Amino acid sequence: MNRARTGGAIALAGAAAIAVVVGLASSAQAATTLGASAADKGRYFGTAVAAYKLSDATYSGILDREFNMITPENEMKWDATEPTQGQFSYGSADQIVAHANAHGQRMRGHALAWHSQQPSWAQNMSGTALRNAMVNHITNVATHYQGKIYAWDVVNEAFADGSGGGRRDSNLQRTGNDWIEVAFRTARAADPGAKLCYNDYNTDGQNAKSNAVYAMVQDFKARGVPIDCVGFQSHINSGSPLPSDYQANLQRFANLGVDVQITELDIAGSGTAQASSYASVVKACLAVSRCTGITVWGIRDSDSWRSGDTPLLFDNNGNKKASYTSTLDALNAGGTSSPPPVSTSPSRSTSPSPSVSPSVSPSNPGGGGGNGCTATTSVNQWQGGFVVTVRVTAGAAAINSWAVGLTLPSGTTVTSTWNVTRSGNTWSNVSYNGHVNAGQYTEFGIQGTGTAGTLSPTCSGS
Ligand code: XIL
Repeated sequence: MNRARTGGAIALAGAAAIAVVVGLASSAQAATTLGASAADKGRYFGTAVAAYKLSDATYSGILDREFNMITPENEMKWDATEPTQGQFSYGSADQIVAHANAHGQRMRGHALAWHSQQPSWAQNMSGTALRNAMVNHITNVATHYQGKIYAWDVVNEAFADGSGGGRRDSNLQRTGNDWIEVAFRTARAADPGAKLCYNDYNTDGQNAKSNAVYAMVQDFKARGVPIDCVGFQSHINSGSPLPSDYQANLQRFANLGVDVQITELDIAGSGTAQASSYASVVKACLAVSRCTGITVWGIRDSDSWRSGDTPLLFDNNGNKKASYTSTLDALNAGGTSSPPPVSTSPSRSTSPSPSVSPSVSPSNPGGGGGNGCTATTSVNQWQGGFVVTVRVTAGAAAINSWAVGLTLPSGTTVTSTWNVTRSGNTWSNVSYNGHVNAGQYTEFGIQGTGTAGTLSPTCSGS
């Protein structure tokens, strides 16, 4: 794919920048994995996953050690999930979701509506028939995964490259300019608990294309079209370098009232230059309070869709590269200022979920005090479902493990959890988020059906 140049290359400070990052990180008890470090900052660190690689022990070993968000690389795309019209095929995608559930990882759904990787029957469609097929596809797939997806890339890559700032021509676009908002409304109706995102490339800096996406998000917000987040793919290479206004661009979108995420990060190159660019991306995300997480587009260089660019954090043998170290160090060093808001749920401004009432229940220190932590809950409730975000805050001393007592009312069913293991009404840390420094916090999530009501969590840590 030939991606246009988007702006001036960021000035890289090279080894000096990395040295500063390392120096800062050493002052605190630094997390030792990407997921743990991001979780310390109220964020996630994810990767694209291919279902057929899950049986590769090196691959899954790194996946489960380092990452707490998963995007299926191809398995949830239209051609994979509806190869024949009206016949849905979820085998490989379900395998990834099951893996994520078993390992406390969250899922990003990718992608419901896109001009690329359509099944041939859809490629050959147009007009009302295609519009109806898109709506039916979104309804079926988002319903199948209802309650299991943190965020959906509802629409992918709908804007044109170049200076025009308009929509990309495609069969979907030719069904009418409103196809994007119809896709978002359809997704909201099918899974009101998932954040709904627009995702694109060459939007990483301010340019004609990102300006056009910005205008769309602004318009959606003004008219109550449900949109919660914007994904920036960030496929970085010499033709599409890291823009110098990367952070400013993330911030201006966040200022519209949406979360922002780095969704498909890979950076062509090697050594110090690549390591420094990775650190710059992490730093930019941590500086934007609504930048809720970063996903890299694969684990080892050999897993990359652009393996010749050696663009990832692990080499072909699964060894950590310099870019891994700079990424971890930047995560450990940053984000001390403005953590993201406690609520991880979407703002829902339109039907079918008009009755959202985010509320923060008071903290309950748990079992007689002196147990080292407190737990607070934030509930986002909509008709028929909820997301509870639980924040575990360490007391005057660091803790290495925690357990939260939390009973959900009868009539509720848990459909998904993240960053936690459950045993009945006891919710305990997973491997990467047990350690919480004094006064710091980590968060886990519970999504379910029914009404969460008022919750009274207790916390014990040691
Ligand atoms: C890529 C996958 O990595 C490849 O395996 C596949 O052959 C083509 O698609 N933007 C996107 C991703 O949103 O879905 C693409 O993934 C990369 C570009």
